[in-house]
Amino acid sequence: MKARVAPVHKAMRAEGLRVPGDKSISHRALMFAALADGESRIAGLAGGDDVRSTARCMAQLGVPLLRGDGTPWIAKARSLEFTEDEEPTFIPPKRPQGSRPLPERDKDMEADDAIVLGQGLGGLRAAVGTLDCGNSGTTLRLLAGVLAGAGVEATLIGDESLSRRPMERVAKPLRQLGAVIETTGGKPPVTVRGGHPLKGGAVVSEIASAQVKSAVLLAGLFADGETSFTEPARSRDHTERMLRLMGAEVIQRGNTVAVRGRPALRGFALDVPGDLSSAAFLIAAALVAPEGTTLSLDHVGVNPTRAGFLDALALFGARLELELAQSPGPEPVAKLTVSSQKLRGAQLDGELVLRAIDEVPILAVLGALAEGETVIRGAQELRVKESDRIAQTAFGLRAMGAKVEELPDGLRIQGGRLRGGTAIDSAMDHRIALAFSVAALAAREAIIISGAEWADVSFPGFYALLRRLGAEVEIVP
Ligand code: S3P
Repeated sequence: MKARVAPVHKAMRAEGLRVPGDKSISHRALMFAALADGESRIAGLAGGDDVRSTARCMAQLGVPLLRGDGTPWIAKARSLEFTEDEEPTFIPPKRPQGSRPLPERDKDMEADDAIVLGQGLGGLRAAVGTLDCGNSGTTLRLLAGVLAGAGVEATLIGDESLSRRPMERVAKPLRQLGAVIETTGGKPPVTVRGGHPLKGGAVVSEIASAQVKSAVLLAGLFADGETSFTEPARSRDHTERMLRLMGAEVIQRGNTVAVRGRPALRGFALDVPGDLSSAAFLIAAALVAPEGTTLSLDHVGVNPTRAGFLDALALFGARLELELAQSPGPEPVAKLTVSSQKLRGAQLDGELVLRAIDEVPILAVLGALAEGETVIRGAQELRVKESDRIAQTAFGLRAMGAKVEELPDGLRIQGGRLRGGTAIDSAMDHRIALAFSVAALAAREAIIISGAEWADVSFPGFYALLRRLGAEVEIVP
């Protein structure tokens, strides 16, 4: 699908916008709930393709997953066009014999919310077929940890983009705990062999990665004794927060975090906060939109271990209103209000970049529209995301007329105006599609994004929302 996004000339105004549920938290909620004794109720799940991949894999492992209205959860992606049609192509798993009766319909839940009937730490079944993780690295890496711990044999595969991404970073530490795992030249398919009980251990990682950390901690839940993970800097801590909510003992000592094996895990009720990584595109759009623009976003997750985007905006000189909301859940949430304003170039580096790693493409777009130079360093991990995001961002910004130097671990960008009038390919990467769509709003001429449907991985309905805000977006053949 190609989308033509034109510059926006009128101020945009909207109150109370909602972005999709946090993708990192949604994956974890579905996966961890499956390991609980008892049922979990999850509201506000991310509806994008990635989380649907997790849902589908859990269903293949015998975990009954229902929508809030008691019907099976639909694993198909939301329509890529502007219609709301959804074809239920999902065949619900047979419920295991002797499983508990379905919960009564909960009147407060929306149909899109999920009820997961936890199977306990020992309850996952042998996978029906290979587990297709689609475009989602989080699904594959976290599931590898769960399967290794549970001793359930399965092969994990992914799409073309995921099939190029490194998997030894999870396979190696899991082997250290006693798992038998094969990767294919370090990449997917990844096969986890069943029936190899794990022993707790101390894993030390050279990279700060929440996916690797989570895989190790999840495996550690099934292992004897304590399992710890040490990383050079602290990555996002959604796993730790959710495991504590479920009753696990999670011990933090500096950059080391440990779990004790075989805890009793309780089911939980969770209202997933909006995804700051998705909100970032709307915040950026508001910042660079015509004068008079104000957007406010409700219920956005502002977990400090991944809110580096907000700190980066402060370095760009942007002012943003953040009103913390009362939240009974394990994650802080806030209302964010942002208006159009002039930005100055910024130097972004170190732990701030780690806490804003998924927002680097959109930060680079802001850098290209700011006054002066922006330098982003310490982002080498971006080379192995859904695409090589450093290369794709540099390539796209240059195509739009910016002066950009590609660095091994980042970008040096001379700010100014963007010309546009070009075509940019998303490279099977949602954040590239989304970042350049925002760039187009502030360019001189429209751009065409090819592979725009990849936006649905994390932000289904993004183009429809841009239209609602007054942008000119067309689907072109
Ligand atoms: C994620 C962790 C980060 C992030 C990714 C989601 C997670 O990846 O970039 O989008 O949910 O744990 P790494 O763990 O590879 O840094």
